[in-house]
Amino acid sequence: MKRIITFGTFDVLHIGHVRILQRAKQLGTHLTVGVSTDALNWSKKQKKTVYSQYDRLEIVKAISGVDQVFFENSLEEKGRYIVDYKADILVMGDDWAGRFDEFKSLCEVVYLPRTEGISTTQLLEEIRAIAS
Ligand code: CTP
Repeated sequence: MKRIITFGTFDVLHIGHVRILQRAKQLGTHLTVGVSTDALNWSKKQKKTVYSQYDRLEIVKAISGVDQVFFENSLEEKGRYIVDYKADILVMGDDWAGRFDEFKSLCEVVYLPRTEGISTTQLLEEIRAIAS
């Protein structure tokens, strides 16, 4: 039994999101996902989400391989989430490479490569271009 934890906004779900969750799950047997609240997303990206935190939580929960979801309220509480959800491995996309090494005293920390050529921001720009 190996428990994985990962975090993200997961707004306007795309293939990069699905792949990171599936690759994270392959590292263990149980996957918990912390979905950033709307307020946290605003504080870290200064962006409004398209989908509410409730819809994003429900969508992520529906992805095969995801066993448990919760709201991530604060970046400062990552250590507490790792302990509370009994995570053996913290998985993050390599856009965060090195930034969570402080948690190596609590669990293994793995950065997975992002899927090239897609992001929610990019997708929204493409949708705007198509719609205009
Ligand atoms: N992710 C990924 N490949 C992508 C986009 C995201 O592996 N092409 C991963 C991120 O590294 C993170 C998780 O998916 O671990 C959630 O990322 P999130 O910030 O919600 O997605 P982005 O598409 O990067 O969103 P934005 O454009 O708003 O920054």
